[in-house]
Amino acid sequence: MVTGGGSGIGRASALRFAAEGAAVLVAGRSADNIEETAAAARQAGARALALQADATDEAAVQALVQRCVAEFGALDVFFANAGTPGTNAAILEQTVEEWQEVWRVNVLSCMLAVKHAGRVMVEQRRGSIILTSSAASLRANAGAISYSASKAAVNSLAQTAANAFAGTGVRVNALLPGLVETKMTRKVFEYARERGKEGRIGHMTPLQRAGRPEEIAAMAAFLASDDSSFVTGQLYAVDGGVSSTHPHGKIPV
Ligand SMILES: NC(=O)c1ccc[n+]([C@@H]2O[C@H](COP(=O)([O-])OP(=O)(O)OC[C@H]3O[C@@H](n4cnc5c(N)ncnc54)[C@H](OP(=O)(O)O)[C@@H]3O)[C@@H](O)[C@H]2O)c1
Repeated sequence: MVTGGGSGIGRASALRFAAEGAAVLVAGRSADNIEETAAAARQAGARALALQADATDEAAVQALVQRCVAEFGALDVFFANAGTPGTNAAILEQTVEEWQEVWRVNVLSCMLAVKHAGRVMVEQRRGSIILTSSAASLRANAGAISYSASKAAVNSLAQTAANAFAGTGVRVNALLPGLVETKMTRKVFEYARERGKEGRIGHMTPLQRAGRPEEIAAMAAFLASDDSSFVTGQLYAVDGGVSSTHPHGKIPV
């Protein structure tokens, strides 16, 4: 199961899971987008189903989980990936409306995934829940204030849920992407391109570039698979190394 599966990291992950032989349920708000992902997964030979659902609607999430079990016989992986970026409002201009919306989409959606996927997975005595956080959860200046704080809450949820599921066989981990070109970040890339500054994107990270959705999907595939069978409660940054460093001028090599 992948939420926010109609675009970006969610789509790349659904296709990677399909390529690994998984049956995939692609969930999202836009019927066209999720159907496109499911069709591409089917074209790659996988069983795939698209289901429209708001990841913050408890009844809808519960129905997704039930449908997945009915259709595929089990729910092995829930990738809670839906997210929203917030605005660039200054700290003194933050609004209750923005915080409620950003936390609803970024945090509540993860809690519902943990609750409803967890219920089935505890019964199955196995399962992997992956929560999309962000490198912005670790330090300032990599996203909106409401966004960074919400993703820090996602990290905490991954750790607390992993421990709450102790002894059940259910694993929970958070995946922390760095800057990746998707619908969410397109404006940043377009702005840089218009000014001939694309090469500056990511220049302060050790790998000196932005990431690709497929590179985040690769970590999602690891956390989904039995290759990570001894991994739970962890926060995995896939960010070109940006979270390992402080802002700096280029250090000569
Ligand atoms: N791109 C980056 O640089 C970056 C970095 C760190 C973390 N992330 C995280 O990665 C995740 C995926 O984002 P992305 O970069 O792949 O951007 P994206 O292409 O915009 O994907 C976000 C997806 O979430 C869906 N979504 C939003 N609210 C939803 C809701 N209430 N219910 C169901 N689906 C909902 C969106 O659907 P709609 O099409 O309907 O809006 C969209 O498909 C997000 O959690 C984001 O915060 C991204």
